[in-house]
Amino acid sequence: MAREQEQLPPLHGNAYRSPEAYEVECEQLFPKAWISVTTGMVVPEPGDVFPCTVAGLSLLVVRGRDHEIRVFYNLCRHRGAPLLTEPCRQTSGLLTCPYHAWSYRLDGQLYKAPHFDRLDAQAPTTKEQQELGLIQLRSALWRDIVFINIDGQADPFEAFIAPLDARLSPWSAELLQPLGSKEYDIQANWKLVAENFIDAWHLPFVHPELTRGMAPLLAVEDVCLNADLFGFVMPQGYGERSGVEHRATPVFPDLPPERSATIEVWCIFPNTLILVEPDNQQVITVRPQSATHSQETFADYLPGAPVSETERESMLAFSQHINEQDKRLLEAMQPARAMPVGDQTQLNRSWDQAVSRFQLRWRQCMDAAGKDGTPPASD
Ligand code: FES
Ligand SMILES: [Fe+2]
Repeated sequence: MAREQEQLPPLHGNAYRSPEAYEVECEQLFPKAWISVTTGMVVPEPGDVFPCTVAGLSLLVVRGRDHEIRVFYNLCRHRGAPLLTEPCRQTSGLLTCPYHAWSYRLDGQLYKAPHFDRLDAQAPTTKEQQELGLIQLRSALWRDIVFINIDGQADPFEAFIAPLDARLSPWSAELLQPLGSKEYDIQANWKLVAENFIDAWHLPFVHPELTRGMAPLLAVEDVCLNADLFGFVMPQGYGERSGVEHRATPVFPDLPPERSATIEVWCIFPNTLILVEPDNQQVITVRPQSATHSQETFADYLPGAPVSETERESMLAFSQHINEQDKRLLEAMQPARAMPVGDQTQLNRSWDQAVSRFQLRWRQCMDAAGKDGTPPASD
């Protein structure tokens, strides 16, 4: 049982503030993992493009004519200009570089380069078109979450996610309908954002709107499928959304009785966070920007048919209100962790098991990289 898990001292504050630690993460941790970058919801139509930065990489998430989502480096193959910097819909079906107007198809293939051969104005040859396409990253889509593996060496995504896919199968992914999404800029280390999501204890204090007494919270159970897939489960009565209790939203129809009134909250290490309840899925993909800055896509889903516009807006507003409470808290924690005494903290044996698992996994990754996550002697 999780309560018997070995208690470790919390990560040193350096892990949350040091540019050097962040650099090691960018070189050794993120490239080897399956990290999420956003959700399919942000690129719903062919030609939709979502540029983003994650772990020092400038990327383009693109919905193709075939409705497939591909992820490319945001790097023109001529002289390296980024193709796009803002989300947009390319109705032309082309991604055109602003520098010398090379254009690429939505599947990444080079299409045209004006005056490629200068005087005779020939287009690039077929061979050149194939060789000078955008560089695509290995990617996967699961429950509408867009994952990438930067070094191309991770286990197949299907194998990686299989235990959680099986666990969440009663919340049928085929039924998911987008409710809405929002981008957040958070002045806090990505690990604080992830740890907060799997911290059940903060719920009644940071989100009093969710509180229906402590009893359901006391029934929280830690869950762990393996070193990369862990979180907690709690009775649903706890998390009902104020003001929309009487909505007639659809529920996942295949939930067995023992799952029909629970909320499951999972971290897919390192940066993907997912919550499912009988009538809802929420996802956060945390994109590390620096040691002290993160961005995230926050996305909300319903099973089955969409609800009325009024109800949709009400539900989204409430979810986002809760997320903004977390953002305020996280942005206050970041500078506190930078104080010399910021390391004198203690995980709680009764509550912080999921956070402890997250930190244990981070330490394992640092150890594997030959970095133990401890601060330099001068710190
Ligand atoms: S850098 Fe893109 S066309 Fe020259
Ligand atoms: Fe929270």
